Amino acid sequence: MKIFRTVSELRQWSREARLSAAGQIVPVVGLVPTMGALHAGHASLIRAAAAQCSHVVVSVFVNPTQFGPSEDYAVYPRTFEADCALAEAAGATAIFAPTVEEIYPAGAATFVEVDGLSSRLDGLSRPGHFRGVATVVAKLLIAAEPDRAYFGQKDAAQVAVLRRMARDLRLGSEIVVCPIVREVDGLALSSRNIYLSPAERVQALTLSRVVRTVEALFAEGERDTQVLTDAVLEVFAFEPSLRVDYIALVDWATLEPRETAGEGDLFAVAVWVGATRLIDNTVLG
Ligand code: PAJ
Repeated sequence: MKIFRTVSELRQWSREARLSAAGQIVPVVGLVPTMGALHAGHASLIRAAAAQCSHVVVSVFVNPTQFGPSEDYAVYPRTFEADCALAEAAGATAIFAPTVEEIYPAGAATFVEVDGLSSRLDGLSRPGHFRGVATVVAKLLIAAEPDRAYFGQKDAAQVAVLRRMARDLRLGSEIVVCPIVREVDGLALSSRNIYLSPAERVQALTLSRVVRTVEALFAEGERDTQVLTDAVLEVFAFEPSLRVDYIALVDWATLEPRETAGEGDLFAVAVWVGATRLIDNTVLG
């Protein structure tokens, strides 16, 4: 497995991969953007990429521009050796681990803003977050020129922002979305789960519980967003220590609220469990 530190090395690798594979009909280069601290959720993305692409690069970059001033950039878990081992075992053929200066050269003044979507859901409570995400992913897509880029439905609002960005900028990479990987008890895997105390870990199960509640009501035919939201609030009432950030039922493409839920709509929640913010969601139907 190769490890690259500069955009020019990465770009050359990608171009050579596609050159030597000319004539193949499968996509050649897959990119899996991550911030490291890799877990089984990330591994599922890498495995999906490896099943579909002959060359798979995993980027490992804790992106400073997507963290707010009071967020956890400085203490975000950094586990590079373990990340390389996990990535390779899952089928990665290269790692892209740039420095901050490589991605943001001194005086960098160019950012990607997806108007509207960037200020909904997580973007509302984390101003500037999606601007940072869109900017770094645009840079990664421009650098790696992948045929396909893989993202998790776990960050469903991020998916909506990035799909729109890739379309608007006609970046030419297909955006592939992979299902949420969960612990056996239902908690969605997240690099931030390590922040949870044992008691908070139990409280955090309320997220997947509300997701299952909405899935069950939708399957029974309930379509009224207010009724679904009230049911969710009832479940949250059992765990008053949680602070709800948002409960949203939205069109997954625009992130605009829906009064009536339909197939393909996104139900998403974000809550604070102590000092840790966790998210979960389901795509209805
Ligand atoms: P990170 O949180 O490291 O996640 C990298 C990718 O893994 C994202 O696409 C995320 O949705 C996916 N992922 C995380 N947990 C998952 C789970 N339990 N099941 C399935 N997929 C999961 O998301 C980011 O990094 C950053 O914002 C990034 C896109 C890399 C830009 O900096």
